[in-house]
Amino acid sequence: MSDPLEERRARARELAAEFADQGDAFGWFDAFYKEAAGDNEQIPWADLEPNKFFKTWADDVGLKGNGRKALVVGCGLGDDAKYLDDLGFKVMAFDISPTAIEWAKRLHADKDIQFEVADLFEPHRSWLGAFDFVLEIYTIQPLPMDMRERVIDSIATFVASEGELVIVTRGRGDDEEPVELPWPLSRRDLSRFETHGLQQMDFRTFDGDEETPIPRWVVWYKKSTVTEVE
Ligand SMILES: C[S@@+](CC[C@H](N)C(=O)[O-])C[C@H]1O[C@@H](n2cnc3c(N)ncnc32)[C@H](O)[C@@H]1O
Repeated sequence: MSDPLEERRARARELAAEFADQGDAFGWFDAFYKEAAGDNEQIPWADLEPNKFFKTWADDVGLKGNGRKALVVGCGLGDDAKYLDDLGFKVMAFDISPTAIEWAKRLHADKDIQFEVADLFEPHRSWLGAFDFVLEIYTIQPLPMDMRERVIDSIATFVASEGELVIVTRGRGDDEEPVELPWPLSRRDLSRFETHGLQQMDFRTFDGDEETPIPRWVVWYKKSTVTEVE
C-alpha cells in the first residue's frame, strides 16, 4: 500500500479493532491522535481547513452566526469550530480525545472558542437543548453500528427549540451493508433524527474524493417548536 492517506486509514481500522477487542469503542481515537505526535498529515480527516462539503453548503445558503450559540460535536482539531467562529457564532466544541482538544486549543488559541473534553454519551446537563446550531461531521460514522441510534439520540438532545442541526457524513443505500470503518449512514439511519422533532430542510449529495467515490451528504434539520396541548 503506497498511498499515505490509505495507510493511515488502515492504521485507524487496526487500532479501532484492537480497542474493540477490549470492549472499548472510543479509546482508539485518543491513541490515534497521540500517534500522530502533532503532525496533522497523520490524521486522515484533519486538513486544517473547514470541511469542504460543509463549507460549500454554508456558502450556498449564506450561513451567518449573528451571535447564535453553536456546538461542534466530536470537533477533532477544531477547524470547523473556527469556521463557525469566523461566521459569527459563539462556539463551544467538544471531543472525547484529550489529545485532540489540547491540539485544537493550541491551533486556535487566538479565537474565543470554548473547547472541552467530553463524551457524547455523558454530556454536561447544561448543554441539553441549549444550542441554536449543532454541527456534526464524521462522528457518527466511525462509531459501531449497534450504537447508531444512541449516538443520533444524543446529538439530537443538544438542539434548542427552533434550533438547527447539520450532519456531514458518508452515505449508503438503505439496503447496502456497510463494509468497513467508517460505516456510512443510510437515509433510514437519518430518519431517527425526525423522531426528535427535527425536520429535514435540505439534503445535498457530493462525490467523495476516493478512487471509487463514496457519496458525502450534508443534511440540514430544524427543530420545530414544542407546543403545549391545553
Ligand atoms: C472521524 S473524527 C472527525 C473529527 C472532526 N469532526 C473532523 O471532521 O475533522 C471523529 C471524532 O469524534 C470523536 N469522538 C468519538 N467518539 C466520541 C464520543 N463518544 N464523544 C465525543 N467525541 C467522540 C473522536 O475523538 C474524533 O475526533
